[in-house]
Amino acid sequence: MCGIVGFVGEEKAAPILIEGLRRLEYRGYDSAGIAVNGDGVTVVKEKGRIDNLQGRVDEINPQGTIGIGHTRWATHGAPDQINAHPHRSMNGIVTLVHNGIIENYMELKNDLIEKGYKFKSQTDTEVIAQLYDFLFDGDAITTLIKTAEKLEGSYAVAMLVKGYDDKVFAMKKDSPMIVGKGDGENYLASDIPAILPYTRDCYIVNDGEFIEISKNDIKIFDKDGNEKEVEIKTINLSIDAAEKSGYDYFMAKEIYEQPKAVMNTVFPLIKDGEIQLPFEFPESFKKNLNRIYVVACGSAYHIGITAKYIIEDMVRIPVMVDIASEFRYRNPIIGKDDLCIFVSQSGETADTLASLREAKVRGAFTMSIVNVPFSTIARESDGVIYTNAGAEIAVATTKAFSAQLSVIYVLSAYLAHEKGLMSDDEIKVFTSEILKLPEKIKTALDCDKITEELSKHIATKENMFFIGRGIDYPLCLEGSLKLKEISYIHCEGYGAGELKHGTISLIEPGTVIAAVATDDALYGKMVSNIKEVHARGAYVIAVVKEGTEGIEDVADEVIFVPKSSKYLMPSLTVIPLQLLAYHTTVEKGLDVDKPRNLAKSVTVE
Ligand code: G6P
Repeated sequence: MCGIVGFVGEEKAAPILIEGLRRLEYRGYDSAGIAVNGDGVTVVKEKGRIDNLQGRVDEINPQGTIGIGHTRWATHGAPDQINAHPHRSMNGIVTLVHNGIIENYMELKNDLIEKGYKFKSQTDTEVIAQLYDFLFDGDAITTLIKTAEKLEGSYAVAMLVKGYDDKVFAMKKDSPMIVGKGDGENYLASDIPAILPYTRDCYIVNDGEFIEISKNDIKIFDKDGNEKEVEIKTINLSIDAAEKSGYDYFMAKEIYEQPKAVMNTVFPLIKDGEIQLPFEFPESFKKNLNRIYVVACGSAYHIGITAKYIIEDMVRIPVMVDIASEFRYRNPIIGKDDLCIFVSQSGETADTLASLREAKVRGAFTMSIVNVPFSTIARESDGVIYTNAGAEIAVATTKAFSAQLSVIYVLSAYLAHEKGLMSDDEIKVFTSEILKLPEKIKTALDCDKITEELSKHIATKENMFFIGRGIDYPLCLEGSLKLKEISYIHCEGYGAGELKHGTISLIEPGTVIAAVATDDALYGKMVSNIKEVHARGAYVIAVVKEGTEGIEDVADEVIFVPKSSKYLMPSLTVIPLQLLAYHTTVEKGLDVDKPRNLAKSVTVE
């Protein structure tokens, strides 16, 4: 939600800020703006995408070599030019950009209005600017600390302060921020891709730290104004990850990167047929592991439901799956014998992070499955397994989802082995099946052509349903989410057996149903469900394993995916579902990578 960049150096700041914002545009794209400090501060901001901003910046051509920028996902106030960041304080003391939500902004605003401050926008952000202006004591850092003391909520803020013309200041709480260290130039950003063209050396800012960057220096202060040591980490991410590399959309590129994403994720976890996790579970889990919780949002939540099917079957331990925004407020029953798994591509999702903190307070052992290195969820969990999928830019997740699935397989087998339910030999066989997945995913991608053909038909529809049973059911939820979030076609994912309890009344001649049927034990029942909807005029696209016989007699179209172990099928089944969503959206002429109203990294609750 909202992307922030900052730059201090010797080159013109505007092009660097705009390039950084383009790389963060997945975080929000309602409006964008920059402020450049040259001969005074120039603010340029526009409604809509970065391209609009670029047009205005080209006209105005701000000259300075120091600046901040912002791409917005609107929370307080309409997505228009006035509410776009940066915001400048009434007396021009500060110009700032903000990611997050100031929860006590109304109270602060009323107070500042009484003191004579005039507000231009409806944003909570402008309150930070006016408050800083009011509290300004001539020292940029002490004023920043005093400002932070009065704010409730979450924020990452970057600012230019009058009288400090060679510096950018920043602070953060519960919203991500990194500092990039260059040679004679330094950067600020919400996320790593923004600075990848310039540096991989970063400082990951912690909550409650106050930052001052100039071209040759990075200073970090704690809440008492004491300077802290700056520990620079080198981020191992390739710049290609944040480029389209010849594909029309990031989503297409990321779909095709899945074999590599899965390989890079599982390879470090499997050595000579044995599983090696990068951390150790508490010794007591061997005997006493009571329950497993999987907590996540969006597609990562679907990973949780898939995990439930796999872990309960393989490990025989109950698995509870929660949407993070519910978990954090529902007073869950958890304790030291429970394992809580948090799944998150970004590692910054506000609700997932809050749930992690809640689980820690209650004494559970926490582990996370995270894609973004050094992100907050990764840093705060007791153990982390990284999905090495590389930077994922398209709002709709694909390669991170596949990488997360592969971690679930490895983790399930590890736990089953620990519990004595899988022998060394069985682990060898299972892990060798996992290692074959990248090749099989490549083969599954051959369904690109047929999904493109089918998308022409789906694009004409207003509704669609995905039905499946067993391990195919969570995949139906994912297929449905993927299609609806980017093509705006209303979709529902349903357990096929549940259809009769309401949804079947929506089936009419021509309704498109994707029926996923890869589980041999449930295949006969799926055929019956397909017949039921077919009898009511539905147009059925079946997704089945290669070699499934007789399916052409019951479905209108069939997509075959390669065979694997029953537990590993989601990695193959998900491919046609992603491609159906992708091609349908292209067919409808919509922006695949940036669907309306959404943002990739949801750092507000
Ligand atoms: C957003 C994204 C989804 C993602 C969800 C959770 O809604 O568009 O693709 O599944 O957030 O994000 P996380 O980063 O925690 O996986």
